[in-house]
Amino acid sequence: MKFFIDTANLAQIKEANELGILDGVTTNPTLMAKEGIKGEKAVMQHYIDICNIVDGDVSAEVISTDFESMIAEGEKLAGLHENIVVKIPMIKDGIKAIKYLSSKNIRTNCTLIFSTGQAIIAAKAGATYISPFVGRLDDISYDGMQLIAEIAQIFAVQGFPTQILAASIRNPVHIIKSAQYGAHVITSPLSSILALINHPLTDKGLAQFLADHAKVNS
Ligand code: E4P
Repeated sequence: MKFFIDTANLAQIKEANELGILDGVTTNPTLMAKEGIKGEKAVMQHYIDICNIVDGDVSAEVISTDFESMIAEGEKLAGLHENIVVKIPMIKDGIKAIKYLSSKNIRTNCTLIFSTGQAIIAAKAGATYISPFVGRLDDISYDGMQLIAEIAQIFAVQGFPTQILAASIRNPVHIIKSAQYGAHVITSPLSSILALINHPLTDKGLAQFLADHAKVNS
């Protein structure tokens, strides 16, 4: 399973990249706004800056909602850097845009997926990735992880090459269950990735080993 970081924060992207396990980055307009990135020129430069840090796919989201504007925006984003994957919302014109961009060999990530039907139609249109939002489903009392399991089963049965990118990850258990249920990728905040590393028994065991070594070698 690939690990993407879900942020536009360059310091966090560098920190995750230095772990040596980072395969890519996802951004969205909310994450870009959170970093205070304003205006088209600054936004484009920020995507290039991210691509220059990480050797992997970087999702950059269109902000148009009609077919013509989405494909124009998508082609512009894809032209910025070879790592860019164009993120397209799950709407009718979005499906047409995914079909068009994939026919031009431009990789896409269909975002805001909340049902198996949406996943199937995005895969049928040729999306490189689909992003089911597990945390936002959990937030409204649906089981986000169950959606990952169902999509993984359908994609396996049908042989769809589209990769399942579990998004809206809120905790390390979402990452573990994504791996268990067959997601190809997770995109997560840095905090949930780092939380996978920690265990109190590891800390306790290491402290004991170092103390015993010090006793003998002092
Ligand atoms: C990533 O592709 C999504 O935009 C992101 O994971 C959404 O996460 P959120 O539900 O925490 O905003």
